[in-house]
Amino acid sequence: MNEKQSESAGKMTVSRFQAKKRSGKKISIVTAYDYPSAKVADSAGIDVVLVGDSLGNVVQGRQTTLTVTLEQMIYHAQMVVRAVKNAMVVVDMPFPTCQIGGIQAIEAAAKIIKETEADAVKIEGGQNRIETIRAVVKAGIPVLGHCGFLPQNIRKLGGYKIQRDRQQLVDDVLAIETAGAFGVVLELVPPELAAEVSQTTAIPTIGIGAGGECDGQVLVFHDLLGFSENPPPKHAKQYAKIYEIALAALENYKNDVENGRFA
Ligand code: KIV
Repeated sequence: MNEKQSESAGKMTVSRFQAKKRSGKKISIVTAYDYPSAKVADSAGIDVVLVGDSLGNVVQGRQTTLTVTLEQMIYHAQMVVRAVKNAMVVVDMPFPTCQIGGIQAIEAAAKIIKETEADAVKIEGGQNRIETIRAVVKAGIPVLGHCGFLPQNIRKLGGYKIQRDRQQLVDDVLAIETAGAFGVVLELVPPELAAEVSQTTAIPTIGIGAGGECDGQVLVFHDLLGFSENPPPKHAKQYAKIYEIALAALENYKNDVENGRFA
């Protein structure tokens, strides 16, 4: 086994995740929503697979994540957990499981962990979520935080907008760190602000549309691999054009069938 293989062998745990920041190693995260997407992410040695409520957008074809239900998150997370051997599996707490209150959040988080056997949950919000994060962590469930742009607040925010309020972001991240979050996603934050926050907090920061100075990066599976006929969001580097490959293959197949070229 070479150095790279031995480093990627074994289950990603909260302590290994946090150790990566301390030793200056970047953390890779990608979303996945079913068995095949999770299998390929895990086989690539990705550190964390996030069952994001972005499944509302990229799997269900909705405009927002707001309609995704707890049952749907569990359904998708079960498929993901079945496929993953080494990555940590984190499951989004969907709207409004954390907006209602502490007890409801504990019940929802516990249901996710009990029915999926995932490793952790992700909760959107900062200072306004510290009681909830504290309660879920106290119940023994690791929490990944999510600050900056919050997709579950899209109605209030009025669209996908860069979050530039420095004091708010610093206070939010430090608050959720104190509440026990083991890491934090920073979404749509100016790169210099994300860099500053990454220096300030002891927990790993995971950027999406937040520049290259975070402790890691998360991308949506379908954006990264080009699953859509439309271009990906500006912040998402596209590593493949699967839509075009699939389209050509299916046209080829249709042509074969129409010409009787099938076994
Ligand atoms: O739901 C999701 O995919 C997310 C990422 C964008 C971080 O929350």
